[in-house]
Amino acid sequence: MATQKNAVILGTGRAYPEGILTNADLEKMVETSDEWITSRTGIKERHKAAEGEYTSLFAVAAARQAIERARIDPIDIGLVVCATVTPDQLLPSTGCLIQAELGAHRAAAFDLAAACSGFLYGLTLANQMIRSGQTRYALVLGAEILTRFVDYTDRSTCVIFGDGAGAAVLGPTDEERGILSTRIYSDGRYAEQLFSPGGGTRIPPTAETIAGGLHFYKMRGNELFKVAVRSMADVSREVLDEAGYRAEDVKLFIPHQANQRITDAVAKNLNVDEAIVYSNIAYHGNTSSASIPIALDECIEQGRVNEGDLVLLASFGGGVTWGGVLIRW
Ligand code: ACO
Repeated sequence: MATQKNAVILGTGRAYPEGILTNADLEKMVETSDEWITSRTGIKERHKAAEGEYTSLFAVAAARQAIERARIDPIDIGLVVCATVTPDQLLPSTGCLIQAELGAHRAAAFDLAAACSGFLYGLTLANQMIRSGQTRYALVLGAEILTRFVDYTDRSTCVIFGDGAGAAVLGPTDEERGILSTRIYSDGRYAEQLFSPGGGTRIPPTAETIAGGLHFYKMRGNELFKVAVRSMADVSREVLDEAGYRAEDVKLFIPHQANQRITDAVAKNLNVDEAIVYSNIAYHGNTSSASIPIALDECIEQGRVNEGDLVLLASFGGGVTWGGVLIRW
């Protein structure tokens, strides 16, 4: 069983709602301006799900693309990990709902709640399962409808978040490429820097908790900002060190798309050329766990990733959680 083959990404996909919420729209909802949002975050617009749209709808669409590009049969998938903090419902997992839609009936399917780091947590898990021979093909998704939990009277959070889904199919290879190193971390002492207090077992949903907006995200953005820059830069150096590379060897750097200023500060800290740093924050905003797989799929479509390239992924999110993954494409 112990094959120790590397795991490679065989195919990716992405999907998001057609609805778009622009900065001009937000100007009509809260006291803000396009100028403030653009200069403080880099965001111009974000996708927003319409009534009746739900997380697995976009996850399944993204997964279908990834599966088609990987040229595998869904029945051969052994693992479906849906990274999400905005599941369709609490029970069953969105992973199981996706599994059923895809016909991946032989897989173990579940949700993974690590906020914006969820996709990299999922890649780490899939990598280990494939390397150990426990599974041959794995489907890792990041899918969110964050706008359902955004308070559109709170200008410090409502300008940031958007909706979408990204997916990747992984499988084993005998070649000297694929996932080279992974690192994931969390520190629950910072839990209240980004959290939704109500709706779970501690404060179950009632008419009062909903009227009080306890299911909405509360964020201390300023404090998170500093932790985000430090942890993404540190974990990037760790995965590079472990694989014996330096930042200048990286051909493509995809950080979690949280804020353009965070991306710029991480790139500066790592001393990487801005030309290799991918950003789509202007038109997606922060889609949490979906941000890296959406960005990766866009990079592949744009021809920004070539065989042999060193690709660095780094994330940071609520929990707090953070992680890094280094891939030889
Ligand atoms: N429009 C106008 N003014 C605003 C807005 C807005 N949309 N939002 C906040 N302000 C005001 C504040 O009220 C404050 O005013 P004051 O000085 O009169 O009190 C002023 O702008 C400065 O506020 P800060 O919070 O210091 O602004 P900052 O430059 O830090 O930007 C932001 C806020 C964009 C939230 C930033 O801190 C950030 O991006 N933080 C990181 C967020 C993040 O990465 N979250 C984790 C990942 S998400 C996940 O895991 C799901």
